Amino acid sequence: MNAKMWDEIMEQPAALGGCLECNASVLQQVVARLKAQRIDRVVIAARGTSDHAGVYGKYALEMLVGTPVALAASSIYTIYNRTLKLDNALVIGISQSGRAEDVLEVLHGANESGALTVAITNYPDSPVAREARFHLCCEAGVERSVAATKTFITQIFLLALLSAEWAGDEALLKDLRAIPLRMAQTFDIAGEIGEKVERYRFMQECFVLARGVNYAVALEAALKIQETTFVRAKAFASSDFQHGPIAMIDSDIPVIVYAPDGPSLPNMSAMADRLASSGIELVVISNNRDLLSKGACAFAIPPESNDILSPFFNAAVAQMFACKLAVVKGMDPDNPKGLTKVTITR
Ligand code: AGP
Repeated sequence: MNAKMWDEIMEQPAALGGCLECNASVLQQVVARLKAQRIDRVVIAARGTSDHAGVYGKYALEMLVGTPVALAASSIYTIYNRTLKLDNALVIGISQSGRAEDVLEVLHGANESGALTVAITNYPDSPVAREARFHLCCEAGVERSVAATKTFITQIFLLALLSAEWAGDEALLKDLRAIPLRMAQTFDIAGEIGEKVERYRFMQECFVLARGVNYAVALEAALKIQETTFVRAKAFASSDFQHGPIAMIDSDIPVIVYAPDGPSLPNMSAMADRLASSGIELVVISNNRDLLSKGACAFAIPPESNDILSPFFNAAVAQMFACKLAVVKGMDPDNPKGLTKVTITR
């Protein structure tokens, strides 16, 4: 396929390999400081795709370390000119470009209040990277497509590694080291995605649902579809979906369901049944045979995954789906109208 976005999706296993190698020592330094400083809360500041990586980070850190994680409201600094008491906090700023001004202000305020600060960017010389006490580098190489792909995957990889290192979870660290190789397996279904996506050529709206850590993937899948195809894709945690938005369902609006085996499966399965009984078309991404059989369209991710690992495979499917759908719709996924690679907000 002739799209930079596609090439960058395919580069992800290599990017993850480089990311792993380059950050091993700094990750250990960060964890040593975290333990010495008795950190009892985490704040994450980010925008767009990087914010979705932050949502993944919230679940990973809370599940593995048990430290509460809040997603920052940057406007507290940039609009209301207030500061927060952040001593004993780890503050993580995530920005692939490293040029997000709002993220920079949160990190600056956090440094002033004595927090331990960590930046995750793809550019060690960027303002965000320089502001933080520690920098974790995506090492993804230049990303040319407006739609972020390999920077997202490396951001969540760094957050997973940080969580596993902090928790001292050696088994998970071993699994994570295998992710660069295992991710390539997900690309086996690239052709199948290309064929099945034809069915959605005229789709104008869709919902994207997941539960738990894969909520981050639902958000990212919807954003990828929005910016590359202009389809009005809306993401919800399946729990939130039931508290009102489910009233919007319509047989003309497909629902994309990320439902891997694991703790969230019963919940997602019940939601899939409820939607199917209302005549809703489901696009299912799962490694559970029963759930896959519920989809008018289904994509299998690798088996033997868990909730820290499945987002890597799910994200790859989401990226391929959006990219192929854009091409099927006759659009250029690399240069969506009205968007630029770097968006500065305050
Ligand atoms: C990604 O696909 C988007 N184009 C956009 O949301 C981007 O993630 C956002 O502008 C944040 O950029 P940053 O990571 O460079 O701060």
